[in-house]
Amino acid sequence: MFNLKEMLLPLMLALCIMYPLAFSVSEDILLINYHIHIINDLPLEPPTNRAMFQHQDYAWDSKINLFRTTLFFCNARWRNKKQRYFEAFKATRDEDRCLDYHFSCIWSLRYDGIYFSSDNYTWTMQYPW
Ligand SMILES: *[C@@H]1O[C@H](CO)[C@@H](O)[C@H](O)[C@H]1NC(C)=O
Repeated sequence: MFNLKEMLLPLMLALCIMYPLAFSVSEDILLINYHIHIINDLPLEPPTNRAMFQHQDYAWDSKINLFRTTLFFCNARWRNKKQRYFEAFKATRDEDRCLDYHFSCIWSLRYDGIYFSSDNYTWTMQYPW
């Protein structure tokens, strides 16, 4: 018969050593204040109540929570033409890619969809309408 205590002990030691290392890495990320930008780059429309102006940048800040479940989702509506929900900030997806440029996640609403940039220079369509 094998000894359960002897088998568990090495496993527990391994976990106790690895856990603080993993924790100190993610702790740094928890201190970062990410900037989330949503920019209206749609064609010019007549102004309406509660609509964004053309090229208006709506921005807010967020930190990542301890469990990395931080999530902001938005409903973008272009008049009565197009509408779609999109995830403007999702910790597990964005914590690394938004480190490059002042901790920014930048979204641009355009005629064919919603574009993402992590450097305010290259844009990729992430959500077609
Ligand atoms: C992105 O670049 C434009 C053009 O240089 C600038 O006006 C804008 O402030 C920048 N946006 C961010 C979020 O840095």
